[in-house]
Amino acid sequence: MTAPPEPGVGPQPTLITDPADLRAALRGQAVAFVPTMGALHEGHATLIREARSAVPGGRVVVSVFVNPLQFGPHEDLSRYPRDLEGDRRLAGAAGADLLFHPDVPTMYPDGFSTSVSVSGISEPLDGASRPGHFTGVATVVLKLLNLVRPDAAFFGEKDWQQLAVVRRMVRDLNLNVDVRGVPTVRETSGLALSSRNAYLSPEQRAQAAVLSRALQAVQAAYARGERRRAALRQAGLDVLNATPDLTLDYLSVVGSDMHEREIMDSDSMNRVLVAARMFGVRLIDNMPLAPPATLSQPTLSSPTVSPA
Ligand code: PAF
Repeated sequence: MTAPPEPGVGPQPTLITDPADLRAALRGQAVAFVPTMGALHEGHATLIREARSAVPGGRVVVSVFVNPLQFGPHEDLSRYPRDLEGDRRLAGAAGADLLFHPDVPTMYPDGFSTSVSVSGISEPLDGASRPGHFTGVATVVLKLLNLVRPDAAFFGEKDWQQLAVVRRMVRDLNLNVDVRGVPTVRETSGLALSSRNAYLSPEQRAQAAVLSRALQAVQAAYARGERRRAALRQAGLDVLNATPDLTLDYLSVVGSDMHEREIMDSDSMNRVLVAARMFGVRLIDNMPLAPPATLSQPTLSSPTVSPA
């Protein structure tokens, strides 16, 4: 059953809650998949457009499921923003065909007792600050991949460690899906788009852009030839330390295993990641370390995205 199009927003995707209906709707089709927790924004729209262009004649599925397994006991599960109708409009306008919105008992029936843990890569950074988070992510992503069985799945680079965890799980478990990372979309201030930005006022969002400025300071130091990890970090900390209302969780220069090692070949440092609490909201961001000429990230004023 397809809902009638709303004026000006394009056709709405079919809303599906039952895995059996999803299988029936996708049988025999090429499928591109965008897993989300809803509260969709322009960053998600970019993922959906990428998915659309990956399967022109196929089906684009967006899942909206606020996954309780990936929230800690004192985190924001109950107040996480939810807006199914808004999600449906945005997903439809960006090119989604189906919106899969299972409920919690469908995903985790009584007695559910399996978890997927991706060791090593899940342990530092967000894994250290949010124990169990990546096990919750890997478990739900594996379940969603099993339910949707996509040819390709699209994840935002804003959640860089999550993307690395998913890639490792897909490789280790021989899952037959092409995992694509899509560059972060930013406000013109530089603030990375995130569903959690909905917790912030416009003034707070402007202040939170300090995180991207700190990352850019690290990038600039790297581009000038700095390769000492402590000096690279300090370039970012100098920006953050001047900011009131900010509690730093981590600012780390890491290699592809996500670990910040005492002794590391400087060539293997390839990303700087930050997590901080501002105005009661935990925000994360990251940027690549590379010469400036090769760095470009889309913003809302120039939303074009190069293929992952
Ligand atoms: O990035 C997210 O929105 C979530 O972590 C994901 C991948 C949908 C799993 O719940």
